[in-house]
Amino acid sequence: MKTYKIALLDGDGIGPEIMVEAVKIMKLVAERNHINFELTHTPFGASAWFQCGSSFPDATKLVCDEADAILKGPIGLSHEESKKIPVDQQPERGALLPLRRRYNTYANFRPVFLPKGLAHFSPLKPEIIGDGIDIMIIRELVGGLYFGKKETGINAAGKRYVNEMLEYDEDQIRAILKVGFETAMKRKKVLHNIHKSNVLKSSVLWNEILDEVHKDYPQVKVVQMLVDAAATYLCLNPGQFDVMVMENMFGDILSDQGGGILGSLGLMPSACIGPDKAYYEPSHGSAPDIAGKNIANPYSMIGSVAMMLEYSFGMDQEAKNLWQAMQSVFAKGFSTPDLSKPGSGVKMISTSEFGDLVASELRAMPVPN
Ligand code: IPM
Ligand code: MG
Repeated sequence: MKTYKIALLDGDGIGPEIMVEAVKIMKLVAERNHINFELTHTPFGASAWFQCGSSFPDATKLVCDEADAILKGPIGLSHEESKKIPVDQQPERGALLPLRRRYNTYANFRPVFLPKGLAHFSPLKPEIIGDGIDIMIIRELVGGLYFGKKETGINAAGKRYVNEMLEYDEDQIRAILKVGFETAMKRKKVLHNIHKSNVLKSSVLWNEILDEVHKDYPQVKVVQMLVDAAATYLCLNPGQFDVMVMENMFGDILSDQGGGILGSLGLMPSACIGPDKAYYEPSHGSAPDIAGKNIANPYSMIGSVAMMLEYSFGMDQEAKNLWQAMQSVFAKGFSTPDLSKPGSGVKMISTSEFGDLVASELRAMPVPN
């Protein structure tokens, strides 16, 4: 029997409870497909800091090093709670960015996917949503401002100052642009290149390399768009986008806006792919205000499992089934309190009931060959 080792990083806030639902689904997928998922929970994030004094403990690194894939819950605490942890150990700087760096997970896939049946979640008008939204945001994840040199101090005029560099070399840019073109080739062969070349030199180099890489993909139509304009068009006309590629910080911001046009960041799973290792995570935060209440929707966590099945294990059909299973639960009128208000025909269910319903939808589908 094929065995895959998976490191489970429950994370903080709602992380553990949505992870329970992901595990429920993984066990079902394993059983249906006659494979074995060896699942190892390991501490990560603020909870790890309180438990073992490090937000990315060495023991966790070992489990991740040995895993075939990593499934990670959201991390982070409320602003007040965060202050109890030294700045460099806070889970974003002390765990998440080191995880991305350790496995060089440069290619971040963030689907902004809203089939017509889920259109009621979106704040956009039906005529703007049209047949639904289906965009793949590709974000460079290990370069740019996030990982550039940083310096703070007092300048010659006696003023506090900060200097953060936006750094990329041509290989990094080429690598992510190739991912953009490859993805466009598998979809509609249209690639929106998001940049700010009217101001930033980093975008000028980015676009130079784009022209070079484009030569290898002549079938792909490239649409150039400034990042500020892209923010507007995501609201006004999201249907024009299919694959969008951009640097790290632009991708952080526009992917959250993607969640906004869907109606919730809770509908945003993601895949973070490196040359040798990939990890999967919801794009949203740990929502400490609703943690432990069994009301958070596990869609983004289960969606991250679907992406893992597709990207790490080549189980494309089972991944599709899982997406379909989740859509069916919503289509039958079920929802959770974090996504929907009571009334308006919503059948309100809990985190665990949502997981159970997804499982029973999946169970009813034929097992892929
Ligand atoms: C994301 C998050 C992270 C980021 C934070 C938690 C550091 O917002 O994955 O989009 O900025 O990349
Ligand atoms: Mg973000």
